[in-house]
Amino acid sequence: MSSKSSEGAKHSILLSNCTADVISNAAASLHFGALVAFPTETVYGLGADATNESAVAHIYRVKGRPADHPLIVHIGQLSQLDQWAIDIPDYAIALARDFWPGPMTLILKRSEKAKDFITGGQDSVGIRIPANPIALALLREFAGGIAAPSANRFGAISPTTAQAVKEEIGEFLDVHRDVILDGGPSLVGVESTIIECLEDSPRILRPGAITAEMIEKTTGLKIESSKSQTRASGLLDAHYAPKAKVFLLDPINPVVACIAGVGFIAAANHPTPDGAIRLAAPISDDEYASGLYEALREGDRKNLPAIYVIPPAGDGVAIAIRDRLQRAAFEGGSLR
Ligand code: TXA
Ligand code: MG
Repeated sequence: MSSKSSEGAKHSILLSNCTADVISNAAASLHFGALVAFPTETVYGLGADATNESAVAHIYRVKGRPADHPLIVHIGQLSQLDQWAIDIPDYAIALARDFWPGPMTLILKRSEKAKDFITGGQDSVGIRIPANPIALALLREFAGGIAAPSANRFGAISPTTAQAVKEEIGEFLDVHRDVILDGGPSLVGVESTIIECLEDSPRILRPGAITAEMIEKTTGLKIESSKSQTRASGLLDAHYAPKAKVFLLDPINPVVACIAGVGFIAAANHPTPDGAIRLAAPISDDEYASGLYEALREGDRKNLPAIYVIPPAGDGVAIAIRDRLQRAAFEGGSLR
């Protein structure tokens, strides 16, 4: 495997510059059953050939994830969808046409090709075409489905940089086989919207940058909001958590009785409380989303005991941000 910037570490190789050669070597690695961590516009994924059971089993080992949690199959173009899914409703096709490549995963009835080791034994499969040039080049070169969860240990924050992937799982990768592709920071920063498309109308299982409003506009259908029976690990109450305790503050009336030395994340218009360490000051919800995980991670790198967060108010991607923050705060507790 060629590398522009092998950090010489005992762990996996970081590839800072994804040339055509590097990408075709990574695709070959996937064919041989290796793991390739790659950038997407949402977060970094830990990829394996979605038809290779032992490679997929390796993903579960590296993540420390229970084996019955299903994986998303990433494809490079819409024409591959029929290989993985059957009985696709018209509204799902409309969503695919409008939002792929993009931060949206569709849960569809699985085909024969989507085996139990991908779907966790369920009759459905998650599919996504990511909007990231390196991911798309890798998918084009590989020419098959790449199974990829977020490239973090189970329950931890998703990585949005190659360095964060290395910190999360580098020690569990095989330096001689596995690869981390470096495509810079993820633009969206929160995981894809997961939309179950198994009934007459769509249902959001995980909010993301593709919002309910956008889905209703494309499909002309009202979104189902009741809880599904489907299993999705990102739906566990405590998930996406840093090591620091996360405390959520009321966005309207933030009472920041801060202990010195805690982390602080809020939109730029909120001043930093005395003694707190500012971890992010985004000027928009999009910037809040793209920087959130790296800010939480920075709190952990600094060994902060707690991080106080004023979540964004409002709709759009702010809904996904609040969803992730509530899960991050589950054990730390919410002050609201
Ligand atoms: O943005 C993303 O979706 C990223 C990038 C890498 O694509 N991937 C990601 O994968 O977040 P993961 O595995 O960390 O989260 C995917 C979620 C999990 O909670 C999983 O349980 C759920 O999708 N999922 C996958 N297949 C499913 C299925 N057939 N039915 C219900 N949920 C499913
Ligand atoms: Mg995940």
